[in-house]
Amino acid sequence: MAHNSDISPDGSPWKATVLTLFPDAFPGVLGASIIGTALKDEKWSLEAIDIRKFSGNKHRTVDETPAGGGPGMVLKPDVSAKAIDAVARDHNGKTRPLLYLTPRGTPLTQKRVRELAAGTGVVLFCGPFEGLDERVIEAREMEEVSIGDFVLAGGEVAGQALIEACVRLLPGVLGDEASTVEESFEDGLLEYPLYAKPREWEGRKIPDVLLSGDHGAIGRWRREKSEDVTRKRRPDLWEKHREGKKE
Ligand code: ADE
Repeated sequence: MAHNSDISPDGSPWKATVLTLFPDAFPGVLGASIIGTALKDEKWSLEAIDIRKFSGNKHRTVDETPAGGGPGMVLKPDVSAKAIDAVARDHNGKTRPLLYLTPRGTPLTQKRVRELAAGTGVVLFCGPFEGLDERVIEAREMEEVSIGDFVLAGGEVAGQALIEACVRLLPGVLGDEASTVEESFEDGLLEYPLYAKPREWEGRKIPDVLLSGDHGAIGRWRREKSEDVTRKRRPDLWEKHREGKKE
């Protein structure tokens, strides 16, 4: 059951529309765990649309070899634009952002995820990586986003990652809302290490401070561990964090 506070004034929840050549890949992982439960409870909604429906020919061809030569295939601009134009980007009286998942995109951040989760939803274009005709990206003002410096076979898994990151932030989806505040990236640092009983496992002990009951000391220990791990693993984040503090 959706609570009143979970939904917008017209009664419809946050919505993800996905344009894809593989609609069967959805909901995929989004049908599992708290995200899937929230989908069943109508705290958000999902629509996967087959780009091939817009091929306009009986062979259902949607791609062409790249102009200028080279490997792979490129989605035809007319077909891609028809698919985009056919989806209602309006939701709850607002236009949803149109994003194209590609390794060439701007890296997705928790900040952008928070913004997207605070809106009425997203329209995602999940194409094969070789891609989409540049003219469609320009003409439809698509926001190109990447989920990391590696190459997937297509945008479907990347799109699911983006949706999952947004949906877990929607009101009423996570049991404990406070739990998104202290996690990695929220204050520009990676998360501190976690432990659970037993007190000793394979000769390794839970650090004494965590069992001390001294919340001040625990907070300081966690902060120090967060800073250590960020400095070691993500010098880029560490620099930004330090610059932010100076301001
Ligand atoms: N499609 C293929 N690789 C991708 C990536 N790293 N991020 C987003 N979309 C992609």
